Amino acid sequence: MWTKEQLQDVVRKKLGDRLLVIASNREPYIHVLEGGRTRTIRPVGGAVNALEPVMRACGGVWVACGSGSADRKVVDSKNRIMVPPGNPSYTLRRLWLSKAEEEGYYYGYSNRAIWPLCHMVYVRPTFDESEWRYYEQVNHKFADVILEEIKDKKAFVWLQDYHLALTARFLKEIRPDIVVTQFWHIPWVNSEAFRICPAKKEILQGLLSNDLLGFHIRHHCRNFLDSVELELEARVDYEKTSVIYKGHETLVRAFPVSVDFEEISEKAESKEIKLKTTQFKKEFFLAGYKFVAFSLDRIDYTKGIPERLRAIDRFFEKFPEYKEKIVFVQIGALSRIHIKRYKELNDQIDYIIEEIDWKHSTDTWRPVIFKRRTFDFREKMAFYRLANICIVSPLHDGMNLVAKEYVAAKNDLKGALILSQFTGAARELQDAFSINPYDPDDFANKIKEAVEMPLVARTERMKRLRDVVRNNNIYKWANKVISELDKVHF
Ligand code: F6P
Repeated sequence: MWTKEQLQDVVRKKLGDRLLVIASNREPYIHVLEGGRTRTIRPVGGAVNALEPVMRACGGVWVACGSGSADRKVVDSKNRIMVPPGNPSYTLRRLWLSKAEEEGYYYGYSNRAIWPLCHMVYVRPTFDESEWRYYEQVNHKFADVILEEIKDKKAFVWLQDYHLALTARFLKEIRPDIVVTQFWHIPWVNSEAFRICPAKKEILQGLLSNDLLGFHIRHHCRNFLDSVELELEARVDYEKTSVIYKGHETLVRAFPVSVDFEEISEKAESKEIKLKTTQFKKEFFLAGYKFVAFSLDRIDYTKGIPERLRAIDRFFEKFPEYKEKIVFVQIGALSRIHIKRYKELNDQIDYIIEEIDWKHSTDTWRPVIFKRRTFDFREKMAFYRLANICIVSPLHDGMNLVAKEYVAAKNDLKGALILSQFTGAARELQDAFSINPYDPDDFANKIKEAVEMPLVARTERMKRLRDVVRNNNIYKWANKVISELDKVHF
């Protein structure tokens, strides 16, 4: 298992005197005003939560958009603040977007165009010329702020995700000597699907300004190379998995992202989490059930929440003997509701839950408990401890870290993971109960199989799952990315 200390060692050796700069749309800490006081919250998204322990271990600067009501209040005159609170180990540098920029770049081109384009879930992307202009503008802004932080130092810039597809290009135009890597946290679709995007060439050219480009799985690397081959006059080397475009080489590699296994495993056992678990048991009336099945998602159409609910409905239709014996807890964090499709999804979920309730509930039992709420680390851990089944069933997902976190939190081995075969995590977590979220009948059978599997066999499976996550933790992931820089010419 890789440790924080080993990663620190690698960073020292490989980066030397280079400044480490991470840039992402979402910030790792958000400051909000509540009743006249400032509170710090951690956002729920996978990417920032994966990278945060890496930054804590390595130090450096993290550039991200400010988003909280107290964000401006707590930064210094250079828009910086040291984080994490209580144990400051790196700098968070905030940049500010205007309302028009947020609308065009974040809600618009990032989440109405690129997000549905890259997830094969049959939600039609909207390509809007003016939103594209804002996307370019904000990517430029990111490059300017990163350069301001670097000044004349040597640096290693690590860009995150689909919001920043053009930033590497703007950086390299000014400072070709900076080493720039990007990790794409969402899937990359096949070249036929990608080719509908009017800005496809600009996006590819932007990404090919990176020295190293990472995806979660090899399949996404392959899709990306196919897109380049189809759209640009570039030399694509499938064996070396690299592209030479306009004389510059970009290595394309798969790095399956992970979680801080040790931290989660340890914390899940702590007294504080045990207390929270007891509290949740009371709050959600969970005592007395033999099985508590649990799901935790941002409310996003890629996560397959309606499909999951349909499968639960099917489960009780097919196996009514489980009524009053099992309860499904769905926690959903509101997300991007400024976008119409997300508003509609929320209505759709309420509608299906009401239908299921009407059909199956009894005087003393409701099949699904749905809470729309955000959750912090402690709450997540408590839910993981409570759940003897965790259902992760996206229609398409780059990786999905809930699956890995659940496994890491199950020190008592008393848990089963039901996992969509369309997640990146499914490639590694082969001992999960694999489902197709589009097939409610089979999905219902898999729930039954997980419930009825003899304890010893279920425990064995969880043990093997834990070995996989333990051996491929977040520090190993970061080490792999940084070690690959040996092959980059700088
Ligand atoms: O999966 C990619 C990702 O960037 C994750 O970090 C996160 O789950 C989500 O997409 C971003 O959500 P948001 O739009 O709330 O930052």
